[in-house]
Amino acid sequence: MIIYFSGTGNSRAVATMLAARTSDNVYPLMALPPAEAEWNGRRLVFVCPVYSWGIPQLVLTYIRSLSHRFIADARRHKVWVVLTCGDETGRAPEMIERTLSERGLPVSGIWDVRMPNNYVLLPGFDVDPVEVEREKLARFPARTEEIAGCILAGRECRDFTAGSWPGVKTRLVYPLFKRLGIIPSRWKASDACVGCGRCRDACPMRNVSLDSDRQPVWGKQCVSCLACYHVCPRHAVGYGKATRAKGQYFYPHTNSHDKP
Ligand SMILES: Cc1cc2nc3c(=O)[nH]c(=O)nc-3n(C[C@H](O)[C@H](O)[C@H](O)COP(=O)(O)O)c2cc1C
Ligand code: SF4
Ligand code: SF4
Repeated sequence: MIIYFSGTGNSRAVATMLAARTSDNVYPLMALPPAEAEWNGRRLVFVCPVYSWGIPQLVLTYIRSLSHRFIADARRHKVWVVLTCGDETGRAPEMIERTLSERGLPVSGIWDVRMPNNYVLLPGFDVDPVEVEREKLARFPARTEEIAGCILAGRECRDFTAGSWPGVKTRLVYPLFKRLGIIPSRWKASDACVGCGRCRDACPMRNVSLDSDRQPVWGKQCVSCLACYHVCPRHAVGYGKATRAKGQYFYPHTNSHDKP
């Protein structure tokens, strides 16, 4: 079984493509509460994005919350991890491996898949230039196929790009991101909003609702996946001033680099 978490669709695309090749069932993590998850399949594969050279906190919490019954079943099978990232993983692979091994689940293989970057909240961070985005999208099916081949063959493997200073980034920047990375009250819709509800529908946390005027309202359960920002057809979702001149990306739509 393949369990994935995804904001802007990259990890979903990789998980779905893997499943088509390995014939595993694929589940969005948010649709499979950890206490109720039933074992189903011949192996366990986690697919999720890299956040700030680490693993999204909700994925680690999910693994820690899986029931003893599920873990007992999982221990009889191999466990694999596929991380999607814009460029580099830092020590994210070791982070998820440690969390899984604390549950008695040794990891047989970990890979990264380079996908279009979706992080835009800090100065200097933006979506990829169109040609980089196109190149990544052209390459990821072959990479996913390669990973599927290893998983099917049961071949142990560690293949990812940690990048420069991975230990420093994961040890210093990731904890800061965890504490200060997102302030949900900063999300607002501008006058350009047409009330289409796509931001609400895209939020994996169900953290966005529409008020009686069909204007989006954000709750406090934000995990900074940025789906609500990237999916808006009017570039009407803003995070303070941070997103004002930034591009948008949402798999498989790749043409929304127009700056407002
Ligand atoms: C909060 C946040 C932090 C990110 N940090 C990193 C990072 O440290 N390294 C990296 O290469 N990409 C980083 N990215 C980019 C994503 O990992 C990448 O675009 C991923 O494929 C998004 O997956 P999704 O579309 O399934 O949500 C970050 C994205 C977000 C939203
Ligand atoms: S996706 Fe954009 S236009 Fe649609 S409701 Fe949300 S903010 Fe408004
Ligand atoms: S509200 Fe937060 S969790 Fe929901 S889509 Fe927006 S950034 Fe992601």
